[in-house]
Amino acid sequence: MAFAPLLALLFSLAVVRQSDAALTKRVACADGIHTVTNEACCVLFPIIDDIQTNLFDGGECGEEVHESLRLTFHDAIGFSPTKGGGGADGSIVIFSDIETAFHANNGIDEIVEAQRPFINAHNITAGDFIQLAGAVGVSNCPGAPQLDFLFGRPAATAPSPDLLVPEPFDTVTSILARFADAGFATPEVIALLASHTVAAADKVDVTIPGTPFDSTPEIFDTQIFIEVQLRGTLFPGTGGNQGEVESPLAGELRLQSDASLARDSRTACDWQSFADNQAKMQTEFKAAMLKLSTLGQDVSQMVDCSEVIPQPLAASLHGAHLPAGLNMNDIEQACATAPFPTLTADPGPVTSVAPVPPS
Ligand code: HEM
Ligand SMILES: *[C@@H]1O[C@H](CO)[C@@H](O)[C@H](O)[C@H]1NC(C)=O
Repeated sequence: MAFAPLLALLFSLAVVRQSDAALTKRVACADGIHTVTNEACCVLFPIIDDIQTNLFDGGECGEEVHESLRLTFHDAIGFSPTKGGGGADGSIVIFSDIETAFHANNGIDEIVEAQRPFINAHNITAGDFIQLAGAVGVSNCPGAPQLDFLFGRPAATAPSPDLLVPEPFDTVTSILARFADAGFATPEVIALLASHTVAAADKVDVTIPGTPFDSTPEIFDTQIFIEVQLRGTLFPGTGGNQGEVESPLAGELRLQSDASLARDSRTACDWQSFADNQAKMQTEFKAAMLKLSTLGQDVSQMVDCSEVIPQPLAASLHGAHLPAGLNMNDIEQACATAPFPTLTADPGPVTSVAPVPPS
């Protein structure tokens, strides 16, 4: 065996090992403040500072964060292997005239127009901005996982076709089929619905905008998985709205889709599994969000800039609980193989839930 090829091989192995080491070494950004493992991520810091100050009111988990999280979904789920759509590509902003007119996107125009000046002010595609804003926004919600951010979505070239975004009046069969078409397994669908823990509706009952889906819409806790399992007794506003069913608390709105997913034999045990398991919810939501945020994208062409996403605060020690005045008899057990976790109620009488203030 000749020596030269062997030496060349050893030399190239050494080079590879050296560049591996270089990749994990931190480099200083030109701002003199931040260090990153990949210099390409440096450009994101001024964008993050801008949106925290000027879009999220100084780092709140308020209305714009909730809307920005919803927008990550409505842009990305516009993806189907058979029907078209570019997924998480920013088409909902670039082709907003078309996509915001879809019935399922009712109200999304508000955050599209709130984000547009930030997209125009920075050198970033709409697809990247939407997912960056979602991940940064969620980091403002105590209890949330630190979401991933992959950087490098090309500009959208076409609008998404209509009828790819699920509606709250869709059946469980249709919801699961739509998500499966986009590549999601049933447990991932339920994990994604952890998002409704930091959420409110403006358009389901237009007489009561800002009505939250759980009692703690500014905390990324498991209350959504608990409160949706409680027996519905009232409508917070008017009755008879499409996609709404009775909720257990004044001031709280329940989507028909959430209620059905919590009770269907295909999804009830997954739903229940999150009710008192913050860590499981965080892990599975984070993984499903990474998948959602890269739908339709070539991940091999993207840079992992997850380290720029702030680490969220922990949720308070309060933990999983029943709302005051309710007890375990108000839980509608739906999972056939395991009992709903035993929870205690907050002290005091039943209180109503406050709306999410507009900002
Ligand atoms: C079965 C699937 C889903 C259905 C049917 C659904 C439906 C809805 C509806 C009807 C609203 C209220 C909109 C309004 O009236 O203002 C809403 C809000 C919201 N949704 Fe979903 N959703 C689904 C899945 C998701 C997913 C996967 C995410 C994110 C990962 C998400 C995030 C949100 C957020 C954050 C809000 C609150 C927006 C705000 O407070 O302004 N949803 N959803
Ligand atoms: C804008 O971003 C692209 C892709 O990240 C980069 O290649 C280009 O150099 C940037 N342009 C400016 C003016 O910073």
